[in-house]
Amino acid sequence: MSLLFGTAEFNENQHLVIGGCDTTELAETYGTPLFIYDVAHIREKARGFKKTLDELGIKNKVIYASKAFACLAMYKLLEEENLGCDVVSGGELYTAVKGGMSPENIEFHGNNKLKEELEFALDSKVGTIIVDNFYELELLKELTAAKGVQQAVMLRITPGVNAETHDYILTGQVDSKFGFDVNSGQAEQAMQRALEIDGLLVKGIHCHIGSQIFSSDGFLVAVEKMLTILHEWKEAFGYTAEILNMGGGFGIQYTEADEPLKPEQFVKAIVESVKGQCARLDYPLPELWLEPGRSLAAEAGTTLYKVGAQKVIPDVRHYVAVDGGMGDNIRPALYEAEYTGMLANRVSRETTSKVAVVGKYCESGDVLIKEIDLPEVVAGDLFAMTSTGAYGYSMASNYNRNPRPAVVFVENGEAKLVIRRETYEDLISLDCED
Ligand code: LLP
Repeated sequence: MSLLFGTAEFNENQHLVIGGCDTTELAETYGTPLFIYDVAHIREKARGFKKTLDELGIKNKVIYASKAFACLAMYKLLEEENLGCDVVSGGELYTAVKGGMSPENIEFHGNNKLKEELEFALDSKVGTIIVDNFYELELLKELTAAKGVQQAVMLRITPGVNAETHDYILTGQVDSKFGFDVNSGQAEQAMQRALEIDGLLVKGIHCHIGSQIFSSDGFLVAVEKMLTILHEWKEAFGYTAEILNMGGGFGIQYTEADEPLKPEQFVKAIVESVKGQCARLDYPLPELWLEPGRSLAAEAGTTLYKVGAQKVIPDVRHYVAVDGGMGDNIRPALYEAEYTGMLANRVSRETTSKVAVVGKYCESGDVLIKEIDLPEVVAGDLFAMTSTGAYGYSMASNYNRNPRPAVVFVENGEAKLVIRRETYEDLISLDCED
């Protein structure tokens, strides 16, 4: 069964329409594969987070995790919606600044920020740097001293929480490359050290327990751990945090089988737990920051492909190949991620056969959807794969020297090209001839 999100609907011609734009016309104008973002849907999600936090009466900041999908237009949209953003590289920082993000609303993350990247962040006057390790603490000491500046920072803590998700996107467990570990005492040591460094203003602590999480249980354990250590540090060295940043990770619906909590439910559970722990420990209620990435961008994104070749192996499998694949969406191959979709040019309720939707890349693992019920498909049909707005384009590659797709934003019947399709010229533009 297909899923319809946000403004997606079918018109009288049985065409899929998103943001008031007929996707068959979008395919004609911009070509395929094409990423289509339903802007109203992103706005609605962003406002949902904000509204719930505000209504629960806690000071807050919603910070979009750029890695899910970033481009100039996305940053402009975030700025319009009063969201912050987190960046994890000089490149994301550069794009955010160029896209008009206010530097004070930018957070800089990363487990191995380069010296040049940290300098760039300091020079750009980013709001917060989330310090990940001792090496970075010392680098920041050096750089803030050399520049004679003071930088607001938070410490990334690894609370030792195992959220239930794919191993590759787990981040809060003890054996992780990210953050300061609590159990071995590194987190406490890091806080002590950070407080000694004149150039650093330690605003609070951060954790991110993983991604595509469906229940609030892991967050609640993490909140308890985070407030317990804050309480200990208040006793131990009189430090009180202004901000508690609980990261992102809120799951979304890729297929009908997925049943994540709604963002509002995650937020409510987290806020109640923060308030409860603060009351229990008699700790002043900190500001709560959250970093949703996928839950803001994923369901707003649809990839439109054109069907080409088909191969039917009797009693084995029916392959339907589209004009994209693992180069524009590595998630099925990398995480065994499951998706669904529908024909965009002629919706039909009747399903006639089970097919596998595969890409055009020279790899057997280039399977976008292992099994889906579709009406009879012919070359030239448009296949719309849903929930591709997060970690699709942002993880895209030029494997097999395929150009990366174009991206359009659609809203109120208008389409805006926000990333143009790569050309063959683009593909050789970095090659050096001797
Ligand atoms: N904050 C931090 C510190 C993070 O590391 C991440 C994601 C987020 C926030 C946003 O998480 P989200 O709300 O999007 O789940 N490529 C993988 C996902 C990697 C996530 C990495 N960190 C995927 O395609 O599933």
